[in-house]
This record gives sequence, structure tokens and C-alpha cells, in this order.
Amino acid sequence: MEINIRYLEQEFFATIDGVDIKSLSKSEFFEIKKAVETYGVVVINSQNINDDDQISFSEGFGKLEISIGTQTKAPDYQADNSIRPEISRISNVDLNNKMLPFDDKKVIFDRGNNYWHTDSSFKETPSKISILSAREVPEEGGGTDFIDARHALETWENKPRKYSISDLKDCICEHSIVYSRKNNTGDIFDDKFKKDMPFVKQKLIRFHPFTKKPAFYAGSHCSHIIGWDLKESRDLIKEINDWILESGKIAKHKWRTGELVLWDNRRVLHRGTGYDESKYRRIMHRTTVAGDMPSYKEKP
Ligand SMILES: [Fe+2]
Repeated sequence: MEINIRYLEQEFFATIDGVDIKSLSKSEFFEIKKAVETYGVVVINSQNINDDDQISFSEGFGKLEISIGTQTKAPDYQADNSIRPEISRISNVDLNNKMLPFDDKKVIFDRGNNYWHTDSSFKETPSKISILSAREVPEEGGGTDFIDARHALETWENKPRKYSISDLKDCICEHSIVYSRKNNTGDIFDDKFKKDMPFVKQKLIRFHPFTKKPAFYAGSHCSHIIGWDLKESRDLIKEINDWILESGKIAKHKWRTGELVLWDNRRVLHRGTGYDESKYRRIMHRTTVAGDMPSYKEKP
């Protein structure tokens, strides 16, 4: 197994060659886990896998989340239940292998991934790690960008700030996918979904249990800080989200079919770069490792 680091100075973004996730030794698995926790993002090349392979590999990291996607799929998509619930399918192709119209609810929902976010921060217990497998990629576009929110925290006070890290360290925010999608793609959810997905509390700064280093935990699902004036807190969250993008390198990833990318949602933000959904097919399958508890209950 060979590990290469793209941004050594930030300990950010690794590529691993020479492994097959279907037949890993214990030590190889441990090396991959350590790489994700150390470098935030890990690209593993050339993995010819199906959903069962992906789920077995992913379960090594912990319990998997069940996809919320079932609540947003088009009726014909829902009719075919041949996909396992641990798989979030991010795609403009339905399970009958037909391309969905670009204005299909599912396609619009997936377009919301093109805004910087951390996966499932809108769930009470947010995810630890996402594992995304490229099954079919468009000829143009359809990439994923990653950015290091730990580096942003480490450099926050390089500029004059109204609030220091010590002012912010105990802040608790509220996150919501209804809030973020409304801002980014419009009001696409029905009343039941909105009722089922209320605001959840998350720390603004989280300590990583492996590296013991803090990172901002914000992104587009982050709405406001509890107990603060709404405008003041939204201005600050915007300042933080802007700084995350400004302060570090944006790691741009152009997918190849068969690649598997793992990222640590406790440290990095990511976004899709978008593609022409009316022209190209894109099929990505994600497994998501669930967290252990709501972030606001974590001990620093
Ligand atoms: Fe995502």
C-alpha cells in the first residue's frame, strides 16, 4: 500500500494505491482508517466493488446511517426497492437505469450537494465518515471539492476578528437541511419531511477524537448560534464559512469510475461541482458512518 499526501503542510488529502478493499488485512484497514483521520480525505484508486462490498468495508468504521434519500425519491424510483438502505444513491439515473429529468425532485435535491457542507450535520447525531464510490461519472464536471475546516480554525486569528476562538469555543449552533435546501435549491420538501427534520444542535467547534485537534463545524446546513442575535450569528457563520474557503487549499477531485473517496465530516467540508444533468449520467453510491452521539454532548 502506498500513501501520498497532496497538502503536507496542512496534513490534508491523501491518495492510496495498491489495495483492494475486498481483501484487506487488519493492518491495511487500520492504515486506511488512520489516513482518513489524519489527512481528512483519502482517495483509493481502482476499486471494482458492488454495494455489498462497499457496505462490508464501511462497517469496519462503525455503524452505518440509513439514507434519508427514500423520502425524496420520485415515485418510479421509490417503486424499485432493490437498493440497500445503507446506500445513499446520488444520481440522475433511476434504478431502472433511466435518466431522470433535470427538474425531477431527486435531481434538484442532489443539486443541493453543490453547496459546501458536512454530511448529515442536520441529524441529531451527525456522521463521522462518508465513503463515496464512483459507479459512473460524467465526461465533463461532476467533481467533488474538499476544504479543511481545521486549518481555517488554526488560522482564524491571523486576521483581526470581533470574536476569538476562545469566545466561540462553547457556541452551539442549529443545523437544518430544510433551511439549507431552501436557501440553495428552493422549498422542495413536503410538510411531513419538514416535521421529521427539525433543527438539531451542533457544536460550532469540534475536537477530533483521534487527532485531538479542533475544527470549525459549519457549512450550509448551519443556520445560527443558539442564544445569539439571529443576524449577528448568521453574519459570523458566513464569516467562518468564507474563511474556511479563503484560508486553505481547495482540493479539487475529478472522479474516475471505480474510485472510492473517504472523508472525515468532523473536519472537512465538501461540495459537488455540478454537471449537465440533462446530458450526462452520474451514479455515485455513498455509505455514511454514523457518529456516537450529538456533537454538543462531546467532551472537548
Ligand atoms: Fe455531501
